[in-house]
This record gives sequence, structure tokens and C-alpha cells, in this order.
Amino acid sequence: MKKVLLYVGVALVVIVGGGFAFLELKKPAMNTPSALKVEATADRLQRGKYIFENVSDCGGCHSERNWEKFGGPVYDGRVGVGFVFPPELGLPGKVVAPNLTPDPETGIGGWTDGEKLRAIREGVSKDGRALFPFMPYPHFRKMSDEDAYSVVAYMNSLQPVKNRLPKTELNFPIDLMIKFVPAPVVSPAPPPDRSNKLKYGEYLVEMGGCIECHTQMERGKMVAGKEFGGGTEFNFKGMLVRSANISPDPETGLGKWGEQRFVDKFKGFANMTYDNAPRMNQSNFTLMPWLPMSQLPEEDLRAIYAYLRTVKPVFNSIEVHPPAPPAAQ
Ligand code: HEC
Ligand code: HEC
Repeated sequence: MKKVLLYVGVALVVIVGGGFAFLELKKPAMNTPSALKVEATADRLQRGKYIFENVSDCGGCHSERNWEKFGGPVYDGRVGVGFVFPPELGLPGKVVAPNLTPDPETGIGGWTDGEKLRAIREGVSKDGRALFPFMPYPHFRKMSDEDAYSVVAYMNSLQPVKNRLPKTELNFPIDLMIKFVPAPVVSPAPPPDRSNKLKYGEYLVEMGGCIECHTQMERGKMVAGKEFGGGTEFNFKGMLVRSANISPDPETGLGKWGEQRFVDKFKGFANMTYDNAPRMNQSNFTLMPWLPMSQLPEEDLRAIYAYLRTVKPVFNSIEVHPPAPPAAQ
């Protein structure tokens, strides 16, 4: 009997070991990057800046920001230079948002436009590595071709900045699991129909990654049925904030908010700048991209509001700012 168990044990080790070896070697699903060279028209530069800095807040993750001030405004000249996420955020390993400026050595100046497009929408780096989906490429997959070209045109127009950063190093087994996340974009993606308020709102909510921050997570996965119900905790720089419930639940979400109240909430931050932002402390700490998103045209905010009215109401009462900062760890 003991011998049988031993054999079973050995067999298991061999199978599991073989499985890991297979996963170590496994490559993510990927396309060869397109040979397309993105033309930088004025329209694209403007639209690309809007997506990069406002709607998708690429700059929020990929820039150096002043966390002493409300909303963490981006330092002058540090847009796109990259950022190393601090350990207290509780990410599974060392996570680094790379330098996206066109510096050839430390940024992505040596990448083709096709490689940039593939990284943004399909989650594969230049070297064929799967990107950690904290980079919201599963959402950017739905980015229209024209918007994706615009983002690339805008990234190409950034001032090259030399800023050497370490590489992302994820813990086992997350480093292997993420290989299954990338997926090629196989059909043309037409621009969103702006005359359809709901559809355009859905598109903006997708590009804004709202659901990622506004849904409770368990072991790195969104809890099904809790979408937009808030409650994700962000512990950062010794401060703690929980995301708000933005589902249309009338008691605990935005159910009683009219469209104008929603728009005004964003527009209330529209004149806040690097210079006049108040100091950030436990009572006003946030990671909500208020400064970038306050610059959205009202039409876009109204579309977002319209879409958020249609998601399932989640009953979830959130104390966004707990009274005291978390105990030192
Ligand atoms: C929530 C934070 C976050 C946001 C928002 C974000 N990124 Fe990223 N991005 C990352 C992280 C982290 C990585 C690196 C992941 C890794 O190394 O596995 C990354 C990787 C990349 C890469 C690959 C770079 C390389 O050297 O491999 C590109 C290109 C990129 N992001 C562009 C963008 C663009 C464009 C947007 C907005 C449309 C964006 N990112 C939004 C966090 C973010
Ligand atoms: C990086 C994380 C993050 C992202 C992305 C994000 N939010 Fe938030 N949001 C928060 C946090 C944290 C709060 C709570 C603190 C605060 O109100 O500033 C919040 C608060 C809000 C509030 C205020 C609700 C209230 O009851 O006062 C609204 C409205 C909102 N978010 C809408 C959105 C929308 C719409 C998007 C996408 C376009 C979005 N958020 C994307 C983190 C995020």
C-alpha cells in the first residue's frame, strides 16, 4: 500500500513538474505585430492625448506623480516616464509601468508602431512576453483602430526621457497564469457610434477601466455580481480609500443621482491644477482620476452616466474614507 502511494506521489510530482515546465515555455497567444506606420495627424494627436491623459488615464500609471497633493498630479515633464508601484498596494510581486516615452534605450523608442498597438490591445510586449493585466489591456482590446492609432501617435510625440526602470517580476504562479490572458485582435474595430449615447457611454466606461477599481476583488479576480458595487481598498502612502459604489442602487449607489449631479461632481475638479491642488491626507485621499476625468466634455460624462444607469444595482454600503489611517504595518 505504502509503495503504491509512493508511486502515485512520484507520478504526481512528475506530472505537476512537467506541467510547470510546459507553462514556463508556453508563449501567450499572439499575432505578429502589424507593419503599419501610424501617421500623426492633428486629429489623432488631439484624440490620442485625450485618451492617454483623460479617458484611459494611461498617464496615471505610467507617470511620476506628486502624491503629497490631492489626486496626485503628474509632475511637469514626467508624463509617460514610468512608475514602480509600491509594495503596500498588495500587488503579486514587483510591478512596473514601463517608460513609454520614445527614448530608444530606456523607453519604447526602438519599438515599431505595430508592437505598440499589440502591447496596448493584446497584452504582448515587444519581446513576446505576456503583460500583467493590471495594465488594462483586456479592456483596451475593445479600443477602436482609430483610437489605438491616435494613442500611438500621441505616445510617439512625447518628449523622450531617459528613465531606466526595473522589469516587472511577478510571484509564482501568477507569472505563469497571465500567459493565458493575451488574445489577438482579429477583426477591424470601427469607431464607436457617438450618436448612440448608451453605446458610446459603454465604450468610455470600458476605456476608463471604471469596473477595475469599482468592483470588489477576491484573489485578484472581480467578484461576480458585484460589478461597479465599489469597496475595493487602496492602501497607498500610509492612507486608505475604498472605491465608491457607482451602480444604480438607490440606497448605497448612485441611484438617486440625477445626470446633472453626476456631471457637476466631475466638473467640480476642472480647475484644479498641479499648483492649486490641496494637500492630500486621510480624509480626502483618492485614486479616482478626478483631475484627468474632470476634463471630459459634458457630452462624454452624460454618456457615461447613461450607461451606468443600465448596469445591475448592487446593494453595498461603502465608507469611502475610514476615519483613521490604517495602522502602520
Ligand atoms: C492601472 C495602471 C495602468 C494603466 C491605466 C495603463 N497601463 Fe500600460 N502598463 C501598466 C503596467 C503595470 C505595465 C507592465 C506590465 C508588465 O510588465 O507585465 C504596462 C505596460 C504597458 C506597455 C508595454 C511596455 C513594455 O515595455 O512592455 C505599453 C505599451 C503600455 N502599457 C501602454 C499603455 C497605454 C497606451 C495605456 C492607456 C491606453 C496604458 N498603458 C494604461 C500599467 C498601466
Ligand atoms: C484608479 C481607480 C479608479 C478608477 C479607474 C475609477 N475610479 Fe471612480 N473612484 C475611485 C475611488 C477610490 C473613489 C472613492 C474616493 C473618491 O470619491 O474620490 C471613486 C469615486 C467615484 C465617484 C464618486 C461617487 C460618490 O458616491 O461620490 C464616481 C461618480 C466615480 N468614481 C466614477 C468613476 C467612473 C465613471 C470611472 C471610469 C470612467 C471611474 N470612476 C474610474 C477609484 C477609481
